[in-house]
Amino acid sequence: MSKNLLEGKKGIIFGALDDKSIAWKVAEACVAEGAQITLTNAPVALRFGKIQKLSEQLNVEIIPADATNIEDLENLVTQSMEILGGQLDFVLHSIGMSLNVRKKRHYTDINYEWMQKTFDISAISFHKLMQTLWKKDAIKEWGSILALTYIASQRTFPDYSEMAESKALLESFARSFGYHFGSEKKVRVNTISQSPTMTTAGGGVKGFDEFFDYAHKMSPLGNAPAEDCAAFCVSLFSDYTRMVTMQNLYHDGGFSNMGMNPAVLEITNM
Ligand SMILES: NC(=O)c1ccc[n+]([C@@H]2O[C@H](COP(=O)([O-])OP(=O)(O)OC[C@H]3O[C@@H](n4cnc5c(N)ncnc54)[C@H](O)[C@@H]3O)[C@@H](O)[C@H]2O)c1
Repeated sequence: MSKNLLEGKKGIIFGALDDKSIAWKVAEACVAEGAQITLTNAPVALRFGKIQKLSEQLNVEIIPADATNIEDLENLVTQSMEILGGQLDFVLHSIGMSLNVRKKRHYTDINYEWMQKTFDISAISFHKLMQTLWKKDAIKEWGSILALTYIASQRTFPDYSEMAESKALLESFARSFGYHFGSEKKVRVNTISQSPTMTTAGGGVKGFDEFFDYAHKMSPLGNAPAEDCAAFCVSLFSDYTRMVTMQNLYHDGGFSNMGMNPAVLEITNM
């Protein structure tokens, strides 16, 4: 159902690891809507992931970059502008990883070095990316910068652990940098707070399958699929949302405004 909403626009998509990744669907949707893009991921993900398949499918280039490394980000932005032929219109940050979750350290027994690394990968990388784009004046007027987040930034979901604080930090960076990008460069910065989604990052959280079912029942529209998240990203990269900035936008089938849904009682046997 392409409408060429992104015709003539150029962008960078972070975080496509395999065909379950939200970023994978976003890349497909952006190209289907007429955009020219580059793909990027951490060098280790290029070795173990399937991003090469996506790059062949879409006929776009991959530029490896560890999102915590400023030199890598500078090289990524410079190369993307060379390949795409000028300033960018949009960027998607779709990166998340918690060392304490991955290594099964409980929230009450956190390893703080790992926590700092988690914040660097999952949140500070967003600031590093925006600062790189800013210094290189890499985003066109009325461009759009977007990151993906989760409601655990604002409500407690115990098994999400230190990722909750990572997402709170990420959302705050969107507001703070959004002010500077908006007032000086007419560029918008937003976060999308997405439903639980069956991906590598999502599946790493303890009890994810049960929680996925719970959120699905709680949400009047059900969990929002990755494909719909991609469509929402396209709308936020398009000219139809030029005045939306510094927002955390829920894309969750209504979950965030629910108190109780009788459908949930059925799965909890109450
Ligand atoms: N899956 C969910 O339930 C869910 C829900 C809400 C928000 N999100 C968010 O969506 C985003 C994408 O996650 P996903 O669910 O598609 O999972 P995913 O595992 O497919 O994507 C995470 C990506 O982060 C990349 N990454 C990790 N460390 C990196 C680094 N140092 N430099 C560059 N890239 C790095 C990985 O290689 C991977 O491609 C994340 O921000 C995640 O927190 C996911």
